[in-house]
Amino acid sequence: MRGLKDKVAIITGGAGGIGKATALRLAEEGAKIVVADFANGAATVEELKAKGAEVIYVQVDVTNSESAKAMVNKVVEVFGRVDVLINNAGITKDAMMKKMSKEAWDAVISVNLTGVFNCTSAALPQMLEQKSGVVLTTSSVVGIYGNLGQTNYAAAKWGAIGMTKSWAKEMAKNGLRFNCVAPGFIGTDMVKKIPEQVLNEKILIKVPTGRLGEPEEIAAAFAFLASDDAKYINGTVLSVDGACTL
Ligand code: CAA
Ligand code: NAI
Repeated sequence: MRGLKDKVAIITGGAGGIGKATALRLAEEGAKIVVADFANGAATVEELKAKGAEVIYVQVDVTNSESAKAMVNKVVEVFGRVDVLINNAGITKDAMMKKMSKEAWDAVISVNLTGVFNCTSAALPQMLEQKSGVVLTTSSVVGIYGNLGQTNYAAAKWGAIGMTKSWAKEMAKNGLRFNCVAPGFIGTDMVKKIPEQVLNEKILIKVPTGRLGEPEEIAAAFAFLASDDAKYINGTVLSVDGACTL
């Protein structure tokens, strides 16, 4: 064990995909888990409980600051503290720039950028009082390198990196750490929306192994960054992308 035993970890977007894999991994390492999602998390919670985890589900809409505050209040009420926040909820609304609607821009910025602000802002008072806490955010290869059809998403994911670096500069002295994980293309529902021709001929062709990443491979990075093994890592971005950008 590397310091995650009995730590209280909130994972937004924790009901499925990368968030669920991360919840399972942190639970394996002894953390108490908060599955925080807009979607129903009952099945994920049952799966975690079956593995012996201490877990609750909190419904949250990360785009709503009051909902984010209520989430943190609930966690403090149940578990008494917040040690790890993983800002992982995310959506895509892809379109080439010339066709991208203002609605698609607003929706993606609200969840993937403002959502990160809202949840971090809600968790900070508790973490500052504790003088300890780790905030991790799911950025993306797209945030660093851009992508066709993803103006909105790239802006949000790059923005998350900027916020993370700013927070590290502001609050490392308070005992807090802030980092991002930047996954490549991972086999979840999100990637299922990519047209097959684009996925096979334009995306996978750039991955030296020719395969999508697995949610568990991202979960492992989150577990490392959340743990004491990473206690001098602050304000950075860990790419887990199978070398698709080389
Ligand atoms: N990379 C490279 N080329 C791409 C591309 C991509 N991601 N997306 C589209 N293209 C290419 C197409 O292959 C096509 O090329 P040709 O003209 O040579 O055939 C050209 O761009 C135009 O594409 P479409 O005909 O599909 O144009 P469209 O206007 O009908 O649709 C689109 C545009 C909505 C962007 C659609 O192509 C699409 O969904 N592309 C995938 C975008 C993508 O990569 N999204 C990632 C989602 S997963 C995610 O976001 C997680 C993460 O962090 C990595
Ligand atoms: P997913 O679609 O399986 O999971 C996203 C989760 O976020 C869902 O459970 C959904 O209900 C939740 N969510 C959406 N809007 C919400 C809101 N307003 N409030 C609360 N929860 C909300 O997708 P995946 O792939 O697991 O995505 C997780 C994160 O990883 C996202 O931030 C995504 O942008 C990021 N990512 C995904 C990659 C991939 O290739 N799958 C690559 C790089 C980053």
